[in-house]
Amino acid sequence: MEGVEKEVIRLRNVSKHYPMGDSIVKALNHLELKVFEGEFVAIMGPSGSGKSTAMNLVGSLDMPTHGSIHLDGRDISELSESDLAQVRGKKIGFIFQSFNLIPNLTVKENVMLPMMFQGTSIGEREDKAEELLKLVELYDRMDHYPGEISGGQMQRVAIARSLANDPEVILADEPTGNLDTKTGTIVMDFLDKLNKEGKTVIMVTHDPDLAKDYADVIYWLRDGGLEKVTKRVGKRFADVTKKKKKEVKSNGGR
Ligand SMILES: Nc1ncnc2c1ncn2[C@@H]1O[C@H](COP(=O)(O)OP(=O)(O)OP(=O)(O)O)[C@@H](O)[C@H]1O
Ligand SMILES: [Mg+2]
Repeated sequence: MEGVEKEVIRLRNVSKHYPMGDSIVKALNHLELKVFEGEFVAIMGPSGSGKSTAMNLVGSLDMPTHGSIHLDGRDISELSESDLAQVRGKKIGFIFQSFNLIPNLTVKENVMLPMMFQGTSIGEREDKAEELLKLVELYDRMDHYPGEISGGQMQRVAIARSLANDPEVILADEPTGNLDTKTGTIVMDFLDKLNKEGKTVIMVTHDPDLAKDYADVIYWLRDGGLEKVTKRVGKRFADVTKKKKKEVKSNGGR
């Protein structure tokens, strides 16, 4: 994207610590992350490195212990709980690793659910849900329950649901983690299409090939911190990690 880039999400020096008995689990430590409108961002790193924690903070499902999070330039800690819920519901669509569909609601009712909290009328909710289920090619399954469809279909319902409020940003935590390669490719191509239509996509993945095939920028996490940032330059990825001004000397003794 040329010209002035609009920053949609910014994490500034964000840490998330969980007190556990006498000790503290440092799930995230001093993380800096910037996402521009229309970008496809991948977050990679080993299990336990803080990827889901980072996603939950980006999506303001959780609050940081230290640091600040900005959505469209606004510090979210300055919003009231209800304003934040409103902004989040409208701006961000979530696709969770485990789908998180409500088992006793039909496919269509699951897709309608996020619109309820935005005050959309029932008629509009039904129309939008049907339109989205057509988009993910599940119109003929809309009256089924989640237990009556396949894993790949569940993931497509989750995608349809994430689009219910026409969000600008889609957060996907391991969107293909539970899928076979072929179904995974269908889901990825769908995310790719949404990104090409202008949506910002932030995806967590364990799979470096997936990140390299689809992402513009890759954030590599390790032990709750940023290991490096790589950015697509043509067909390759270049290291664009910002070096800290003050390098911490490792045991200076000699
Ligand atoms: N609610 C919590 N209470 C205490 N510790 C937590 C909590 N949530 C996460 N952690 C810890 O924080 C660290 C980061 O967890 P997180 O779920 O972000 O990892 P992840 O990178 O998403 O891993 P995975 O690839 O396995 O999903 C882990 O060590 C985890 O045990
Ligand atoms: Mg995780």
